[in-house]
Amino acid sequence: MQRAERIVVADADALALAAAERLARRAADAQGPIAICLTGGSTPRNLYRLLTRQPWRGAVPWSRIHWFWGDERFVPADDERSNAAMARAALLDHVPAAGVHPIPVATCGPDEAARLYEDGLKRFYGADRLDPARPLFDLVLMGMGGDGHTASLFPSAPALDEDRRWVVGVPSAGLAPFVPRVTLTFPALASSREMLFLVSGAEKRDALARIDAGEDLPAARARSDGTLVWLIDKAACGADG
Ligand code: 6PG
Repeated sequence: MQRAERIVVADADALALAAAERLARRAADAQGPIAICLTGGSTPRNLYRLLTRQPWRGAVPWSRIHWFWGDERFVPADDERSNAAMARAALLDHVPAAGVHPIPVATCGPDEAARLYEDGLKRFYGADRLDPARPLFDLVLMGMGGDGHTASLFPSAPALDEDRRWVVGVPSAGLAPFVPRVTLTFPALASSREMLFLVSGAEKRDALARIDAGEDLPAARARSDGTLVWLIDKAACGADG
C-alpha cells in the first residue's frame, strides 16, 4: 500500500504556489521530452494562471513539455465546463509547448474517444505495455470531488477496476457536470514519476475525512509508480488543519 505524503498549506494561493514549485522542479529534473497530465475542475485554475507569470514563466522548459489530460467532459470545446478549454485559457494559450494533446470529445462518443486517446498515448510512449521503470508521465495532477472521485473515476464505477485499458469512456458522471466523460484509468495514471493531488476548500472536508476513516473512495485508490503527494489546504483539512 503506497503511503502518500501529505502537505498541508494555508490556503488556495499557497496550494497553487506549492504546486507550481513542484511542477517546475519535476520539469527541470526531466530528461528529453516532458509529459504532464493535467486535471480538470476549478481547483487547478489558480496554478495554471500562476505558471504564466514570473518566476515560473522563466523557469519552466515549456518547449519540451507535452500536455495531456486525465479526463474530459463531453461538452463543446468552447464550453466553460471543458477541462481543455479551462487549461488553454488559463495557461496553454499563453506559453510555448512541445505538444498539446486534448481528449477528442468533439467528433466521437466516449468509447471511441477513449480508444483514440489510448492509441495516442501508446504512440507517444512507444509501447503498448506500461513499464513501471519507465513512467509515461513526469507529473500527473489530480483533483478530488466532494464525493471522493478523481479524474472521472466515480464511486462504484466499473472503470475503478479496469486494469488493462489506459483510457475508458464513462457514459454517466457521478457528479456535476452530468455529461459523459473520458478518463484515464488507475494503471495509466500510476505510470508517473510524481502524482500530485490538489485538494482545496471546505467542500472537500467530508471526502477527506471518509478517506482518513478508511473508506475506499476512488481518490484513495490512486497510486503512482513514483511519488504520491497530496497538497491540501487548511479549509479542506477541517478546523484542526
Ligand atoms: C473533472 C475533474 C475532476 C476534478 C474534481 C475536483 O473533470 O471533473 O478532472 O476529477 O478534479 O471534480 O474538481 P474541483 O477542482 O472543481 O473541485
